[in-house]
Amino acid sequence: MRLKARFAGPLQGRARPPGDKSISHRALIMGALAEGETRIESLLEGDDVRHTAEAARLFGAKVERRDDGIWVVNGVGGFNQPTETVDCGNSGTGARLLIGAAASYKLSARFDGDQSLRKRPMNRVIAPLSQMGARFDGKQNCLPLIVHGGALKGITYRSPISSAQVKSAVLLAGLNAEGATTVIEPERSRDHTERMLKVFGADFDYVEIDGALHPRVRRSKLTGVPIYVPGDPSSAAFPVAAAFDRREIGSAGGGRAREPAAAWVLRDAARDGRQHHLRGAPRSDWRTNRQFGCESFEAAWRDTAARRAPAMIDEFPILAAVAAFADGETRITGAAELRVKESDRITLMVDGLRACGVDAEELPDGLVVNGRGPKSVRGGAEIRTVGDHRIAMSFLVLGLGSKEPVTVDNADMIATSFPGFSAFMQSLGADIAKL
Ligand code: S3P
Repeated sequence: MRLKARFAGPLQGRARPPGDKSISHRALIMGALAEGETRIESLLEGDDVRHTAEAARLFGAKVERRDDGIWVVNGVGGFNQPTETVDCGNSGTGARLLIGAAASYKLSARFDGDQSLRKRPMNRVIAPLSQMGARFDGKQNCLPLIVHGGALKGITYRSPISSAQVKSAVLLAGLNAEGATTVIEPERSRDHTERMLKVFGADFDYVEIDGALHPRVRRSKLTGVPIYVPGDPSSAAFPVAAAFDRREIGSAGGGRAREPAAAWVLRDAARDGRQHHLRGAPRSDWRTNRQFGCESFEAAWRDTAARRAPAMIDEFPILAAVAAFADGETRITGAAELRVKESDRITLMVDGLRACGVDAEELPDGLVVNGRGPKSVRGGAEIRTVGDHRIAMSFLVLGLGSKEPVTVDNADMIATSFPGFSAFMQSLGADIAKL
């Protein structure tokens, strides 16, 4: 399905973004590993998470959808041999976390995914899990692959990349390994797994190594718990970025290791942001009446780029789109991981920005956008998305502010992370239409 976005005046309203994708995957996986009932409220009902729900069933858990966003998982205290291939769809998070969780059980599980997921690197989890004792069959470290699980030994893993997916795969495997399992990453990635392991009752703490604290888990039994899933800050970033005037966007997850993207997209929003805790999960309410991209946020960005990049990796496509409306240059570095997401997001953002009349340039680990200033982006292009949901949403938001409409060639994959995106944006006054 092609979608076209055009300027139709300022958006207005109040809305809650869909549930956090990271927390939704983890609630289902940990619920399946646990004994007893995990009742999940506000689960993201996107395609990625639905694949993980199906996987949880294949590994032996009872998974029921009771109502909109209300799911109940009854785990049996571990993973059983699946009877079919575990299809992770488009989801790198689902695949890598499930592979980690499965690796410590006596089973052989075949994992597969769609064309995009089949191209994404799995060696990043195969390497540490092999060190722990798991065995893998497959070609070139990509899906499809078979994991042969069994008795694992805990390790201290120094990950070469800052990745929550890698950290989580290793910690989930460590739940059923001999001894302690610790993960050291160069910069801190999102910490949902750590927070949730504690909530599910795991033997989990932080250990100081080389002057910093790193997550450590020991063999533990998890117990089912109620989980409330907050809104997804990576999804909230799109409507927040599309706000030209006064906007109010419900609540979304936050916390130290999950930078409120909107605070970066509209950096002054942070001033109005209030943080509070709801049932153990940090949340932020964001509101802004600032002008869209009216200033360059380069200086603030430059100070902290590499340190912040892993925690807000999913927000760079929309950040680059917003940068087109800023005055002056925005230089994003320290984000090489963007090349191995659902698409090579650096190349696709640069190509799309250029097609919309914005001067942009690739860097090995990021991009440079020469902002044209507010109200000065031409648009008027059809964008190649390669089926990447965040590329599609970013250019639709760009089209809401550009002089000429912007079309995306395929918007179907938006449903992986933000089901109902068009209707959500329309409810705030956006002009987004099917072609
Ligand atoms: C996620 C981690 C991120 C992110 C993905 C969700 C997670 O990937 O891109 O959308 O839930 O663990 P990495 O931290 O592995 O780069």
